[in-house]
Amino acid sequence: MSKLLIHGGHKLFGEINIPAAKNSYLPILAACVLCEEEIVLHNYPDYTDTQSMCGILSSIGANITNNGGDLLIDASSLFSWGVESELACQVRSSIFMLGALLGRFRKARVAYPGGCEIGARPIDIHLSGFRKLGVKVEERHGYIYCDASKMHASTVLLEFPSVGATESLMMASVLLPGETRLLNAAKEPEIEDLQNFLVAMGADVCGAGSGEIVIKGVKKLHGCSYTPINDRIIAGTYMIATAMCGGEVLLKGVKAEHLRALIDKLDKTACVIEAKNDTIKVISDGKPIALGKVETSVYPGLPTDLQAQILALSSISKGSSMIVENVFESRFKHVPELVKMGADVHVKDRVAFVRGVERLYGASVSGMELRGTASLVLAGLVAEGYTTVSNIRHVDRGYKNIENDLASLGADIKRIDD
Ligand code: UD1
Repeated sequence: MSKLLIHGGHKLFGEINIPAAKNSYLPILAACVLCEEEIVLHNYPDYTDTQSMCGILSSIGANITNNGGDLLIDASSLFSWGVESELACQVRSSIFMLGALLGRFRKARVAYPGGCEIGARPIDIHLSGFRKLGVKVEERHGYIYCDASKMHASTVLLEFPSVGATESLMMASVLLPGETRLLNAAKEPEIEDLQNFLVAMGADVCGAGSGEIVIKGVKKLHGCSYTPINDRIIAGTYMIATAMCGGEVLLKGVKAEHLRALIDKLDKTACVIEAKNDTIKVISDGKPIALGKVETSVYPGLPTDLQAQILALSSISKGSSMIVENVFESRFKHVPELVKMGADVHVKDRVAFVRGVERLYGASVSGMELRGTASLVLAGLVAEGYTTVSNIRHVDRGYKNIENDLASLGADIKRIDD
């Protein structure tokens, strides 16, 4: 098992190219099964989660070739409409296969999904949306069986703007005759990206980003070539790293409008942020000021996927912060590990009370989930002495060799084997 070994105390300087967003790529990969012609997806982010999703597509008969970072996907001769549990449990996004397979075959059988341990993460909104479209849904022996022989267009009001449920319903309805409306839909940039991809295949979808998505069913989709958006969460992680360590870092290939909520917060920590032409520059003296009250929420609010990194930033900021996690009910698993490094944090229900300390101290800490593990890496970058972060398979789910990116900026970090 590998670990990350970090010697803290180095400022960060340089440039990073931000890769494609895993959270865009995952639903887009699933949506490829809706099309019987070849699709080319550029800038493949080769992480364990995207590999698992490709494994799921291959298991049902899709042909996938990685041509130097471009994925060629041919789903013309699928032989199955089921996803087995050993594959579904590797990645939560396996749930997208339900919507995609319903769109293509009008039936699907998918095992319950796996993924990050950040609370219950139910799928009831996905399933109640399918039922509203006339799909018969049954849950038996760890599998979800869907019969969509009587599926029909309808208006679906989501009880919460779930990102995944919005994407599932978009996929289920693009080939459905008539007009389907999704109300209280999620507005995240990845939703708009999925819409753009579906439209590139010939679907008739509009409204993504507004909270109301209108899908007019078409008979067939055609092949296309598409470049998914870049990863706002990776960009945000490195912005926060720079705010903590001090230095000057230019992030290339990232839209400031996707990170407006974070930029507004970092402005208050006394960082200088310059955004232009798909680049964001962060300049910091490494002495951040505490943010006071911070709340995660759905887009365009502060993403829950940056909460753990902001908590690491708050732990060394001058003053106190109160971090409220509104999206997931159990997303503070990184806190006990940060406390081992000297952070002063107390959690009560969905709120973390953080008193900034002068310095953190290197320690052996262990990752529990993707973004929480990233926050431990950031803490290690500023801690006095050596930090080892174990269980880094979690961070590998969403960052490709995070140590190479950070080392290229001047951090002292490397991957070691036990
Ligand atoms: C997606 C992102 C994830 C991010 C999250 C919130 C991907 C692959 N993952 O996850 O990184 O943290 O959005 O921005 O895009 N919920 C229900 N029932 C459901 C579905 C969701 O109660 O059927 C709840 C969840 O438990 C959670 C909240 O709704 O509390 C938000 O979940 P959702 O927006 O669905 O997140 P994901 O799509 O799983």
